[in-house]
Amino acid sequence: RQTGLTALDYGFVNTASTRSAITYIDGEQGILRYRGFPIEELAENSTYLEVAWLLMYGELPTPDQLAEFDDKIRRHTLLHEDLKRFFSALPHTAHPMSVLSSAVAALSTYYEDSSDPHDPDHVELTTIRLLAKMPVIAAYAHKKSIGQAFLYPDNSLGFVENFLRLNFGNMAEPYSLDPTLVQALDRLLILHEDHEQNASTSTVRLVGSTGANLYSSISAGIQALSGPLHGGANEAVLQMLARIRDSGEGVGKFVERVKRKEDGVKLMGFGHRVYKNYDPRAKIVKESADAVLEGLGINDPLLDIAKELEQFALEDDYFQQRRLYPNVDFYTGVIYKAMGFPTRMFTVLFAIGRLPGWIAHWREMNLDPQTKIGRPQQLYTGSLERHYPAR
Ligand code: CMC
Repeated sequence: RQTGLTALDYGFVNTASTRSAITYIDGEQGILRYRGFPIEELAENSTYLEVAWLLMYGELPTPDQLAEFDDKIRRHTLLHEDLKRFFSALPHTAHPMSVLSSAVAALSTYYEDSSDPHDPDHVELTTIRLLAKMPVIAAYAHKKSIGQAFLYPDNSLGFVENFLRLNFGNMAEPYSLDPTLVQALDRLLILHEDHEQNASTSTVRLVGSTGANLYSSISAGIQALSGPLHGGANEAVLQMLARIRDSGEGVGKFVERVKRKEDGVKLMGFGHRVYKNYDPRAKIVKESADAVLEGLGINDPLLDIAKELEQFALEDDYFQQRRLYPNVDFYTGVIYKAMGFPTRMFTVLFAIGRLPGWIAHWREMNLDPQTKIGRPQQLYTGSLERHYPAR
């Protein structure tokens, strides 16, 4: 018998852990708004950095504020040379999400004197450092996995341009940026910037609620995002599409196996805890997939399989009854692949997208006087009392 237990809520389906003014979702109607602005308008008109500012500070920046923010981020892109050696200690086969999380945790060791979560100047500086350095770490994780030399950032380039060059440029020749790619990646990053109390954001808040610094909290958030039920789904979708193509099984048979829950197989990139209608992000990503592949002159049969799979599922009772629709991860992988990213980098791209949201929530939590250390209860089901045998 336990006292004081209010409710048992596996997966926090019915429990709000905080108040928040950052992101509004209406899952029934498929609505997503950042600080009140519809995601469709932001994806069409804004940029990753402008939305990052909006999420963190609550308002759109003035042109001067945005220029200053952009400039500060450009001036913090360099990694300490010693941190670059960290990558050589890891196997080239390491998953880039593990590399990213570990390197972000390691980053904190260089800034122990300036990462006090309760010092507003430290929080500002850490915010800039993370936004500037995490994409560089991500690109180095990619370069490491393909055995290429790391490039130094080129701070004459914008955020997305710099990131693409760090990933796809090399020492031997100049890198020419494709504007289709830049615009498409910027838009995808905007779509991922926040999604209220999802598992990784809740992790960032929970770790932050202990008084841990922002680097540690973000490092934990990256690990939470890596799972296939969360951000790792974008990688899993592409693997699923490739398996359907390679096995010759056909979409219909695959969907039947999903419905029979054979070996726990799921339709990856489908379903959502909150959306019981089409995920508004997925709608934008689907349109982008067509435009980007056409713009890059790529005809990928995996996109055709994805569309066939979606059509099959949307017309099927199993998916209709459970209100399962494509989520943001369903079509993103096809675009990332067309851009030239290996499958194992997909969730890393999600992490860079989500970073401003994580930071915004961590900051909101630290400013909220009602914040307490996160500490869920449990319902104990073990033996009440036993005694160590006399021997
Ligand atoms: N394929 C087949 N059946 C599914 C799927 C799916 N993708 N998703 C849910 N179901 C079924 C589930 O088996 C259950 O059926 P039943 O009532 O017969 O037991 C029913 O639908 C309700 O599902 P649930 O698991 O209780 O739903 P949840 O809210 O706990 O889980 C989810 C949400 C996203 C984890 C789940 O839909 C899922 O595993 N989807 C596939 C992975 C995925 O695409 N994840 C990305 C989520 S969006 C971006 C992000 O957060 O990173």
